[in-house]
Amino acid sequence: MKKIIVLAIALTVGSVVSAQMKTAVHLHENQADGTIIPKEIYGQFSEHLGSCIYGGLWVGPDSDIPNINGYRKDVFDALKRLQIPVLRWPGGCFADDYHWMDGIGPMEKRPKISNNNWGGTMEDNSFGTHEFLNLCEMLECQPYISGNVGSGTAEEMAKWVEYMTSDSKSTVADMRRANGREKPWNVKYFGIGNEAWGCGGNMRPEYYSDVFRRYTVYTRNFLETPLYKIASGACDYDYAWTETCMKMIGGRMSAIAVHYYSGVERSGDGTAASFDDYGYYNVLAKACGIEPCLLRHMEIMDRYDPDRNVDLIVDEWGTWWSVEPGTNPGHLFQQNTMRDAMVAALSLNIFQKYTKRIKMANIAQVVNVLQAMILTKGNQMVLTPTYHIFDMYRVHQDAEYIPAEYESEPILWTSKGNVPTLSVSASRKDGVMHVSIVNPSKDKTHTVLLDWDSFKSAKNVKVSGVILNAADVHDFNDFGQSPKIAPEEFKDMRRNSEGIEVKMPQASVVVLEIK
Ligand code: AHR
Repeated sequence: MKKIIVLAIALTVGSVVSAQMKTAVHLHENQADGTIIPKEIYGQFSEHLGSCIYGGLWVGPDSDIPNINGYRKDVFDALKRLQIPVLRWPGGCFADDYHWMDGIGPMEKRPKISNNNWGGTMEDNSFGTHEFLNLCEMLECQPYISGNVGSGTAEEMAKWVEYMTSDSKSTVADMRRANGREKPWNVKYFGIGNEAWGCGGNMRPEYYSDVFRRYTVYTRNFLETPLYKIASGACDYDYAWTETCMKMIGGRMSAIAVHYYSGVERSGDGTAASFDDYGYYNVLAKACGIEPCLLRHMEIMDRYDPDRNVDLIVDEWGTWWSVEPGTNPGHLFQQNTMRDAMVAALSLNIFQKYTKRIKMANIAQVVNVLQAMILTKGNQMVLTPTYHIFDMYRVHQDAEYIPAEYESEPILWTSKGNVPTLSVSASRKDGVMHVSIVNPSKDKTHTVLLDWDSFKSAKNVKVSGVILNAADVHDFNDFGQSPKIAPEEFKDMRRNSEGIEVKMPQASVVVLEIK
């Protein structure tokens, strides 16, 4: 095996390294074993929360804001570009308060309810099953429906599945036809509750396991592809939850979820753009802490399911800051800086490593909530730095994973977790390799000497790249201003006899294309 030279200098625990960094990275193309990075790792989440749906995805057909049958056009176009593979809906906590019959039929007759989880805002149900599933078809993404276990009955859930997916002449399927949709929708992903340990019913894992077993009996398969049934999973490090569900539900579930958010213990006023060095590195450490956390969940799953029949999915992840001043605290509207982009890039590189077990991840949330791709204000829209990471990383969707060997120590920062000096992930599709490289240091450049198995014999290799970075890690894209953070062509690399020397600026993410 090729010897990897580690030139990263100066081990510092609890502070940043104080010297230039340089690391050799080798891509083992020849060791790629056909593992495909499922595109669902790049999944999204949309909840009836704040302005995610209303004002974000949906403005209604009568709005002055340009729309396509009620879907906000600027947002729709931006999401279409991202090639979203899967979109989760209607929650989140909202899902366990949601009664699907409220959201079908003539809009003016739909009941108005209070959104009890999220600020008591009035929910008029104008965006319901048809509006969501038609949107998924337009975006060419798979819907992931979160069913109501907490306050809904097994009968209600059974009928929802029938309404969406049955092609029979039953009364329920006919009701769908009467509401304007002849053919069933293609719904595969179905969640049996959400956060059942909390807003989804405050259950113990033993009790939830029995509830899961009961509800899934009645969520029947009407389509050729059977429903992929997702169990509500642990919050962060609640390994006992995963263990109990593996023991008591086992192969009755297609997947079990885990939720993992990254916030910061103390920093500025807690809003997205107000942080010091501690706030920067501490949250990156929390984000990178998802790796040992997932490893532990997977180790438990391996014990009960060595053949990997049950998948692990991270159906909520991302940053969680204090809301922007002047906004409703229940609406979770936050800005999105270069720090958020770093969290996204580091997390995606981690997910890509473990796709033999992890088959989906859904960042929270797609528009206007938490670590959003897109923010809107009236008729204005901005693309966040996180959007650009998802855009740059699209190339990894459904590509073959290529192991990358490098030594990322010494660590850059540690508090409760570690931030590596470098994060690299690579894939190959149609003969083209893509490498995503993250330099988390906000002060130091990092030179990466990149090579791969066929580097020396390869003639006429073309390497191009895209970079995302910022003059200041606090920068964000704001309404009415030209974007401060947007991907640019990356040119700071040159070939020598050993490999490609890539000069990563501070706090930067580069995606290289090698063909
Ligand atoms: O994403 C916001 C909320 O976070 C979701 O509704 C809930 O599932 C989680 O606690």
